[in-house]
Amino acid sequence: MTDSRSSGPLWGGRFGATPAEAFQRINASIPFDVRLAPYDIQGSMAHARMLGRQGVISEEEAAELVRGLEEVLAEVRRGEFRWTLEDEDVHTAVERRLREVVGDVALKLHTGRSRNDQVALDLHLFCREAADEIRAGLLESMRALVEVAGRERGTIIPGYTHLQRAQPLLLSHHLLAHFEALKRDLRRFEAAREAADASPLGAAALGGTPHPTDPASVAGELGMRPPVNSLDAVSDRDFALDLLYACATLGVHLSRLGEEWVLWSSAEFGFVTLDDAYSSGSSIMPQKKNPDAHELMRGKSGRLIGDLNSLLVTLKGLPLGYSKDLQEDKEPIFDAVDAVAAMLAVLPETLRTATFHPERMRAAAGGFSLATELADYLAARGVPFREAHRAVGELVRRCESRGVTLEEATGEELTAAHPELASLPREVLTPHGSVGNKKSLASTSPDSVERQLERAQEFLSSM
Ligand code: ARG
Repeated sequence: MTDSRSSGPLWGGRFGATPAEAFQRINASIPFDVRLAPYDIQGSMAHARMLGRQGVISEEEAAELVRGLEEVLAEVRRGEFRWTLEDEDVHTAVERRLREVVGDVALKLHTGRSRNDQVALDLHLFCREAADEIRAGLLESMRALVEVAGRERGTIIPGYTHLQRAQPLLLSHHLLAHFEALKRDLRRFEAAREAADASPLGAAALGGTPHPTDPASVAGELGMRPPVNSLDAVSDRDFALDLLYACATLGVHLSRLGEEWVLWSSAEFGFVTLDDAYSSGSSIMPQKKNPDAHELMRGKSGRLIGDLNSLLVTLKGLPLGYSKDLQEDKEPIFDAVDAVAAMLAVLPETLRTATFHPERMRAAAGGFSLATELADYLAARGVPFREAHRAVGELVRRCESRGVTLEEATGEELTAAHPELASLPREVLTPHGSVGNKKSLASTSPDSVERQLERAQEFLSSM
């Protein structure tokens, strides 16, 4: 007979032989789920207290379990907890250590609970906290965008479509466009937090427990909603998908920003110089200064999309109830949360410490990027827009063949393109004139950008 008090797997009772080493290795989640230990212990404390309150165990036993768990938590925090592969997973490890600390009363902790609802709870707690932390990091990046947008009022940048120069924009307008995207991300992380804010504890393996437990009070202690359906409670990983989707979408946003900065900091663009502290050199080419942080924002977004996909694919074929496949949920979640944290840690200061080159941007924003301005000028004077478009197109072709820009076109050339252009105020044909001329809601005009800035500042101070 197997001694129920011997060490070994939690499920050792029905097994004659110890697990093979290769099996132990594939089966164990301990190499990565140790990260859940603080949440696991927090959940166990709430569970133990509830067992005491409900008379499932005595109040003294509950107090002893909580005291022991506190000691184990302190060991984890000090980095003194000794994890071994034999423990299989974090839940087993904590329980094993708890028994070493408080003795056999530890054997009562798992009453009315299963590792299925336990691991689901740990993950909910982890995702809730991660969503909060990412949200705080996002706000810091948004603050930096608004700061730089406020500092760079009046700086002109070329706006691109198809990566061809399109129309002049205010740099602040461009930065605030990224702000809007991050604001949507913020909402996604808030929604992910809300989704994670539910306690599955009390579902036990899948169908509940005959013990007179009180899952609602456990949930209350953890500041969470109680479970509604025990089977759903152990099967659901939607909250993790929500978090991963929020991470992936944020990653895509940071990747687009990163890509722009990689371009902007190249000699070809020359719009911005990154601070030395946020760029790196080449081991062979002494002149190089590389935008590694921005490349990594672009690069890491790939794995964020992969992490989301990984969990979606893990879940898609699973029947309800726990399957060991679910153990594969943790690494993508940890990976995504770490990648996002690294990106958000570096972004604000890369923005704040960068030096922009307004003269380079201004030069690139002029020239043929003002063609739409001319067509709009004609249209505002009653020339049908299609006709205006053609007239300016012809003017562009003439200037191109002469090797001059639109700003350098002579009065005769303008008049030849269209008689209405004879009276064109030259200010219209400048990047500042172009942005200043915009009147529509949400445009890049200085007034509109000022309103956007105010709105963004209000938003941030309401957070
Ligand atoms: N290590 C497992 C996981 O990460 C814990 C749950 C184990 N449950 C079970 N029925 N084997 O999912």
